[in-house]
Amino acid sequence: MKVAVIGSGTMGSGIAQVAATAGCEVKVFDTNQEALNRSKANLENILSKLVEKEKISEKVKFEITSNVSFANTLGELSHSDLIIEAIVENFEIKKKLFADLENYVSPDTILASNTSSLSITSIAASCHKPERVIGIHFFNPAPLMQLVEVVPSIQTSEEVLNKTVQTISDWKKVVAVAKDTPGFIVNRVARPFYSESLRILEEGFADMATIDWSFKEIGSFKMGPFELMDFIGHDVNYVVTETVFTAFYFDPRYKPSLTQKRLVEAGYLGRKSGRGFYDYSKDLPKPTE
Ligand code: NAI
Repeated sequence: MKVAVIGSGTMGSGIAQVAATAGCEVKVFDTNQEALNRSKANLENILSKLVEKEKISEKVKFEITSNVSFANTLGELSHSDLIIEAIVENFEIKKKLFADLENYVSPDTILASNTSSLSITSIAASCHKPERVIGIHFFNPAPLMQLVEVVPSIQTSEEVLNKTVQTISDWKKVVAVAKDTPGFIVNRVARPFYSESLRILEEGFADMATIDWSFKEIGSFKMGPFELMDFIGHDVNYVVTETVFTAFYFDPRYKPSLTQKRLVEAGYLGRKSGRGFYDYSKDLPKPTE
């Protein structure tokens, strides 16, 4: 199967690795050459570490890297059976990309978005063949997280839904078919997880290290909410909250946090920029007694 991934950031790089590991021929496209270079170097590093840890052989590493190539134009993606978009979480930019893509691909190519919160129905409406558009929402990091939400819009054909579910299952992921509602399942449920934690911090009842600690130590979570927001990236996480808030007609349950907005404005995007709630160049704060 020929797969293309558009956007070679955190998610696109992970999705490309998953598809290549499953034996697909993968082309990765990004408008930013540096992002493409980083993605290539990261894939090499990740696979080398897996070889060191004896999780894969040199031969498998070679097969996976041989399955991935990098493209500089959308035209190079024209022979794809499936295209997964993982670019910036911005409606207008995504819609323009989907409309452009139809000029290059065959009528049967499935066009998927990895959006966290935007309406698949509205993205599909920018295409001449909206029935081929679907949401495929991976979680971060894509190679490790088992769950994938598959989100048909009201225009998506039954055939496209079935093919997509089959493909993602073949990639050894667990599929949850979700309705096209803001945040789908997981990102909707996760909003209060972040926003209540932010409110506790803003009201001064506990510091973030203590809140993170309590989720991990008492709740057995892998990361606390502040660590997780730093991991996801505040630019991505904040815009998802804003989208869900707006899409639910400003329901105060989903109101975004000004504290997080300031981080985005400052460029403190989390781990990817070296600083978010935590400063990753320093020793991280300890929970209070
Ligand atoms: P990112 O910021 O790491 O990567 C986005 C990439 O898209 C960048 O390399 C950028 O150069 C590229 N790009 C921007 N506009 C483009 C265009 N018009 N054409 C081609 N490339 C373009 O973002 P990330 O975190 O990978 O998120 C991507 C998508 O995945 C978003 O829709 C986000 O909501 C979603 N998502 C993010 C998750 C996360 O934890 N970060 C989890 C699940 C979904």
